[in-house]
Amino acid sequence: MGIKILFVDDEPKVLEAMQRMLRSMRKEWETAFALSGQEALEILGRESFDVVVSDMRMPGMDGTQLLAEVKKRYPDIVRIVLSGQSDKEMVLKSVQPAHQYLAKPCDAETLKSTINRACTLRDLFTDNALRLVVSQLDSLPSLPDLYAQIMKELQSEYSSIRKIGEIISKDIGMTAKVLQLVNSAFFGHIRHVSSPAQAAELLGLETIKTLVLSVKIFSQFDRFNLPNFSVKGLWDHSMATGVFSRTIAIREKQTQEVIDDAFMAGVLHDAGKLILAANFARQYREVIETTQQRHLPLWQAENQVFGVTHAKVGAYLFSLWGLPYSIVEAIAFHHDPSAAPQKEFGPLTAVHAANYLEHHRRQGDADKGEAVDSAYLTAIGMVDQLGFWEEKCSKAIKEEEDDN
Ligand SMILES: [Fe+2]
Ligand SMILES: [Fe+2]
Repeated sequence: MGIKILFVDDEPKVLEAMQRMLRSMRKEWETAFALSGQEALEILGRESFDVVVSDMRMPGMDGTQLLAEVKKRYPDIVRIVLSGQSDKEMVLKSVQPAHQYLAKPCDAETLKSTINRACTLRDLFTDNALRLVVSQLDSLPSLPDLYAQIMKELQSEYSSIRKIGEIISKDIGMTAKVLQLVNSAFFGHIRHVSSPAQAAELLGLETIKTLVLSVKIFSQFDRFNLPNFSVKGLWDHSMATGVFSRTIAIREKQTQEVIDDAFMAGVLHDAGKLILAANFARQYREVIETTQQRHLPLWQAENQVFGVTHAKVGAYLFSLWGLPYSIVEAIAFHHDPSAAPQKEFGPLTAVHAANYLEHHRRQGDADKGEAVDSAYLTAIGMVDQLGFWEEKCSKAIKEEEDDN
């Protein structure tokens, strides 16, 4: 496939070390090196690249400026920061134009997995316009009342990270953003983040304050007008799918890591709908009309209109943002798990079943056409479990609702 990567650093020694380190990747990667932002832009003007990895502190044009320029001129290039820990202030500023953040020194393994992860789903998109939109997104909109709540909490003299974590956990956009940050090598890179609340805690109160109040990493909905598409409905469905998915993973005695990933993938599984509805309102209306007239599941109507589904759109954004692969995979294949390479129980299984069960318990749901992939459940020996899962899930959601 050949991924083309441009490395930018003002220190020749850093670039030489990088070149040596990447020798083993010669067959898969084509690399180029630039000693300044200016030189990088010249090279990008001559040839096309898939990925830019840039240092932050450079004389003349710094990394933030370079990445912002790359984002503007070549939006679908994957933008990665590679920076020293002492440049924290600068990295915070680059949070918007960059997809991912690596810390110096960076070993070959981390670099390889970061770049490969970011590029896994790029070829899925035949529609260029859509790919451009997704690679330019730096946030997913939040529900206005949750947005107001977090602003109020952060501006308060007595803001508490626990409360902030709680608010973030209720919102799809905020959850996605903190997971992006905390999964990056620069901001933490611990192997396993258990929840959006824990992600907030790991980032720390001060960092979150800077990111939300000055860098403005969260955004809120401009009201968009779509008949039969309820944003609030999407939120409720997503949160409930998270709970269902966690319940199923617990019932199947999975490891804590699978249980946590199943929960977060459940919360994020339909984020692609937000992206499509918010950025392509006119076409999305067509999708909804097709769904109703022809009684198709929403994702099949999307496929007809966009050539791709909300599942793949969401998964593509989250792979660019460096979320763990098991979460990205669960989102990408939540309607058609048979198509996934993974053939044993995992977050994908949990999210697929949870999504099906959740849509079907909902009265008047627009997405009634969702079906269960029995061939898949049979292949992994789980087809008889669906009834038990359903029982457990209704209990779990009742408990959750009683708590709130
Ligand atoms: Fe879906
Ligand atoms: Fe769904």
